[in-house]
Amino acid sequence: MKRKLVYIIMAGLLLGCAHMGTSHIKPEEDRSAMINLYKQIFPNIKFEDYIYGALAMNPDARSQYDDIMAFPPYSMDLDKGKKMWETPFKNGKKFSSCFPDGGKNVAGNYPAFDNAANRVVTFENAINACLKANGEAELKYGEKEMGLLTAYARSLSDGMKVNVKVEGSGALAAYEKGKKYYAARNGQLNFSCRSCHVQGSGKFIRMDQLSMMIGQASHWPEFRGGTDIVTLQGRFKQCEKNVRAKPKAANSEEYNNLEYYLTYMSNGLPMQTPVFRK
Ligand code: HEC
Repeated sequence: MKRKLVYIIMAGLLLGCAHMGTSHIKPEEDRSAMINLYKQIFPNIKFEDYIYGALAMNPDARSQYDDIMAFPPYSMDLDKGKKMWETPFKNGKKFSSCFPDGGKNVAGNYPAFDNAANRVVTFENAINACLKANGEAELKYGEKEMGLLTAYARSLSDGMKVNVKVEGSGALAAYEKGKKYYAARNGQLNFSCRSCHVQGSGKFIRMDQLSMMIGQASHWPEFRGGTDIVTLQGRFKQCEKNVRAKPKAANSEEYNNLEYYLTYMSNGLPMQTPVFRK
């Protein structure tokens, strides 16, 4: 009897520990804390509108944006991406063969965490893995071709809710690294991503109003000025250059972890790809 009781207590302790170690609890706490913070800063902006970033703070700019998006200036570029996506590989297969449902409503699951390889897998990594598996040359990260292809490939997930998962200790460690990078002060101007997009969100830097970080990862690549394609990691670089920090390379471990963290924070928001930015 006594022994049985000991077992029950031990089992309880083990379960308790397992529960404490459940990895998705902490990121979820981070996300709701961030949502609550923005609710205080922007009491009149609806959560769904966070995907519009700074445009959500300025009704005039938003209405100009809507007019532009009715006839997107980048539609020819998007056609180029479509052609790349649909052109068969030498073995006759296509990109669509590498993804469930031909690649529809999958991009919002990325970045994902690959437990076997113990690293973050971005959508771009999955595209290159597809090329490699089919005996094709991989595309260069951060270059225009990859941008055009992913602009079209992501458009197949338009409206899908961002659904990044952080499960298991490896995934949690990568998420934590991304979060740490986000908060680390950097560059001659000694700013962190947080300084501008959390503490500073809504404020102006020269002509630019600073967007909130929630929603920032849901709409990439962007066509700046209509036709100049910028990837999410390309934007990280621009922001780092602006504070005179040395940017990391596209597809570096640092940027992939950062993208993992930042995209997790957009969970639940609809993807909208690609978009125009001035
Ligand atoms: C000195 C301030 C500053 C810092 C520091 C900064 N950014 Fe930015 N960021 C901007 C400005 C200005 C823009 C353009 C206006 C906007 O959309 O917020 C911008 C835009 C962005 C966008 C695009 C938003 C959109 O919807 O087009 C992303 C993503 C982003 N920043 C991420 C980051 C990350 C990640 C870091 C840290 C590595 C960072 N930023 C650091 C000022 C900053």
